[in-house]
Amino acid sequence: MNNIPKAIEIKKDIYYIGVSDPDLRVFDIIMKTANGTTYNAYVVRSSDGFIVLDTVKEEFEDEFFTKLESVCDYSEIKYIIMHHLEPDHSGALPELVKRAKNAKVLLSPMANPMMKAITNSETIPFETVWTNKELKIGNKTFKFMSTPHLHWPETISSYLVEDEVLFSGDVFGSHYYDKRLFDDMVGDFDYAFKYYYEHIMRPFKSDVINALNLYDKYPIDTICNLHGPIIRSNPQRYIELYRRWSSKEDRYHGKKVVSIFYVTSYKNTKDMAQAIWEGVDKDKTLLSNMYDLTALDEQNMLTILEESTGIIIGSPTINGDVPKPIWDLLSCMMVLEKKGKFGASFGSYGWSGEAVEMMNQRLKTLKFRVPLQPKKIKLVPTVEELRECYEFGIEFAQIVNGKMVEMTL
Ligand SMILES: Cc1cc2nc3c(=O)[nH]c(=O)nc-3n(C[C@H](O)[C@H](O)[C@H](O)COP(=O)(O)O)c2cc1C
Ligand SMILES: [Fe+2]
Ligand SMILES: [Fe+2]
Repeated sequence: MNNIPKAIEIKKDIYYIGVSDPDLRVFDIIMKTANGTTYNAYVVRSSDGFIVLDTVKEEFEDEFFTKLESVCDYSEIKYIIMHHLEPDHSGALPELVKRAKNAKVLLSPMANPMMKAITNSETIPFETVWTNKELKIGNKTFKFMSTPHLHWPETISSYLVEDEVLFSGDVFGSHYYDKRLFDDMVGDFDYAFKYYYEHIMRPFKSDVINALNLYDKYPIDTICNLHGPIIRSNPQRYIELYRRWSSKEDRYHGKKVVSIFYVTSYKNTKDMAQAIWEGVDKDKTLLSNMYDLTALDEQNMLTILEESTGIIIGSPTINGDVPKPIWDLLSCMMVLEKKGKFGASFGSYGWSGEAVEMMNQRLKTLKFRVPLQPKKIKLVPTVEELRECYEFGIEFAQIVNGKMVEMTL
């Protein structure tokens, strides 16, 4: 047996030319990859030339090219469809374009400003495609779908009509290497499929639903994704998992949730939290709760944040800063959709009081709507100050419920 890597025909005239990275243990800084990963790429033979779908990380390009060469000559490649420009998929693109001189690159219009910056090349010939555009080449038809933010702005999917194959980009991916390649042949990879969704797709739930609505128009026999097992045994199962995870559950029968998170050493900030909560709770059309962040796990923070339309955060100033449990809350939001959420901040302080502004600024940076001036109280709140906190809660509740206010920047 020789060791020269070859393309694998996964369906008639559709070949896998991806590569494996079995020893990878961390991907993109934030993701653990216990089973390594793969960078999937494909090539389709039509009666009028070949179409390459995505490439691989640059360091693996030799293997990718060897596999590609086992299927066709570079001169026979007519199109290169790039579903996503992240370097794990565009790494071999500059070299591929040099070799495949007759090929035109197809990508999203949103990829336009990225192309040069990511490939450092101004000479790559490309055309843009979006929903309802199609490519007819010989006996094959590709229908394109704009699926922005899954998980970069320029991501697209494509559907190969004659073979009922969805090329989904990173959607339905998992960081899970197994040389057996197909979902029905590898071990149980559900953990990796869910973990990938939670870290990559979760911040874009509404975009996931939009994409699923586009995919629903087509019968899908096989999902050719960009990482992990190719899905062919029961694609609907995976589509339904994405739908379930991305759908907003109406657990509270239309009531919006306001959550107040705080930390406190001498109870001052907690007393403020309590008064604010009473103000919010006056509005019985909302559901409001208070949480002491020093004893809340990150997974629970995420669940509560996700369900909350309003988030109010309280902290004392400690050594000119905000204590760690608050930063934990503010940093875990990276994997959440912030669209449509309101934020506010408050806290007690001794002399300089930086914490409250820091929290407020962070909420604004995260694109929360932050309509109220933060509430800052020096040391022990007086009865009058607690009354102000109560009013602050009432006003925040009104805003969450639709009262218009002028936002300050
Ligand atoms: C270790 C420590 C450091 C502090 N550093 C600051 C500070 O840098 N600036 C400030 O305004 N207050 C500072 N304070 C004062 C607290 O913010 C103040 O006592 C506040 O009322 C505490 O609120 P709490 O009861 O909710 O914890 C500090 C307090 C402690 C215990
Ligand atoms: Fe990606
Ligand atoms: Fe990727």
